[in-house]
Amino acid sequence: MRGLFITFEGIDGAGKSTHIEPMAAQLRAAGHAVHVTREPGGTPLAERLRELLLHEPMDALTEALLVFAARRDHVQQVIEPALARGDMVLCDRFTDATFAYQGAGRGFDREVLKTLESWVHAQLQPDLTFWFDLSAEQAAQRLAAARTPDRFEQQDTAFFQRVREGYRARAEAFPLRFVRIDASADRDAVGRQVFAALEDRRW
Ligand code: TMP
Repeated sequence: MRGLFITFEGIDGAGKSTHIEPMAAQLRAAGHAVHVTREPGGTPLAERLRELLLHEPMDALTEALLVFAARRDHVQQVIEPALARGDMVLCDRFTDATFAYQGAGRGFDREVLKTLESWVHAQLQPDLTFWFDLSAEQAAQRLAAARTPDRFEQQDTAFFQRVREGYRARAEAFPLRFVRIDASADRDAVGRQVFAALEDRRW
């Protein structure tokens, strides 16, 4: 049986990444084979493209092309083979991030993004997407305490407000696969929301 593809989304600072390993541990304990990965990244080539994306100046089209180039390699080398084996794939960001960051954040043409998506993964969509939703102001406060910011983390609050609205639009367009997590709660309360969504599905 084909595996399940679960993605984790949200603006920088929303705290999604800390909940992925605990979820993987819970799913493994329930007997699932689980592969944890991330975007941009997840293969040696895609990780190299990630470094360029996060640190080299470039225009929005170059950014979109690099994101999808990294995704192409990742889907072919890692995600599709894992799903075909029957593994669960937990992926920190996927194409919803492109519509939110390059589409809503940068204002890049969504029709072009849809075309690139259809070239890169025409058939593949997540089975479940956790959207860690937090205001841009709260996320900025959390990020201020964190490491040296990359090209995206350096953007102003208005950029992250647009990205958040981009995620909201995706959640409204795909209500069956999106689960909104209130990421303003403390870490344990956020974790409980995530586990409750898995229990609802008996995964
Ligand atoms: P991360 O810090 O959650 O690993 O994500 C790296 C950055 O890459 C984050 O700021 C969002 C950005 N990004 C895009 O702009 N478009 C994309 O399609 C993806 C996957 C990430």
